[in-house]
Amino acid sequence: MSDAVIIELKNVYKSFGQLVVLAGVDLQVRQGSTTVVIGPSGCGKTVLLKHMIVLLHPDAGEVFFDRQDITHMSERELVAIRRRVGFVFQGGALFDSVDVQGNVCFPLAEHHISSADEQADRCREALRIVGLNGLQYKMPGELSGGQKKRVALARAIVLEPDVILYDEPTTGLDPVRADLINELIIKLQHELNTTAVVVTHDMASARKVGDRIVMLYNGSFIADASPAQLDAVTDETVRHFVDGRASKQELRELELGYFLDIENGQATT
Ligand SMILES: Nc1ncnc2c1ncn2[C@@H]1O[C@H](COP(=O)(O)OP(=O)(O)O)[C@@H](O)[C@H]1O
Ligand SMILES: [Mg+2]
Repeated sequence: MSDAVIIELKNVYKSFGQLVVLAGVDLQVRQGSTTVVIGPSGCGKTVLLKHMIVLLHPDAGEVFFDRQDITHMSERELVAIRRRVGFVFQGGALFDSVDVQGNVCFPLAEHHISSADEQADRCREALRIVGLNGLQYKMPGELSGGQKKRVALARAIVLEPDVILYDEPTTGLDPVRADLINELIIKLQHELNTTAVVVTHDMASARKVGDRIVMLYNGSFIADASPAQLDAVTDETVRHFVDGRASKQELRELELGYFLDIENGQATT
């Protein structure tokens, strides 16, 4: 990991109508690092990730990529930036009517790499890296959930990006399949020397792949720790999330008072 910052968000605000999603977020992502963003569903993790390549525009604040202010770049100027970034979208988002090679090569066509030979070569190499040799002519419907995620990964690396943004890459997979994805994220970082930002609410994945874990909550970061430091964080909201326990407030909202009593060692019927 170097000290150079490749992505920086400075005091970023984003609202949708009355809903404030990002309320002054600051984040520096260092080159070669793996930053994991955790936080409850709906807290704004995907929105945050999209700001990193200005798929969403901040209401206020700035976004820098490799020291360039990209906040107000035109879509045309952003093409060169986005070429350096692979995005693994939430849910994989493959085109069901197109075979694996068509899916993997999609970013190539977007960036005008249209030679059939080059497309096939790059596709083969990307599939080799994610362990899906020879599956280029399969249709997404013929693949397992884990294989689909790996095709989405292959698509994200086909342009040999400097940065890979992963949006919930292990969600919906069993623990073994999820761990394979974790191993791939680590392998890609080592083999391709990429910087990664991984959005997840899978704590096992967060601890395994991250060298830094930040937690987004109510529009800003309430934790910023290495996996080793995470267990020493005392903030209650962070603890409940990291340990996978509902807070008392959340239990009360569900009127699960009975469970509260159990937690207090006073179970009554
Ligand atoms: N394009 C949009 N228009 C309106 N609301 C949005 C849009 N994108 C996200 N939101 C809202 O912003 C909040 C954060 O969304 P998201 O970033 O997807 O959460 P998550 O942390 O689960 O990824 C949610 O309440 C969502 O409904
Ligand atoms: Mg999301």
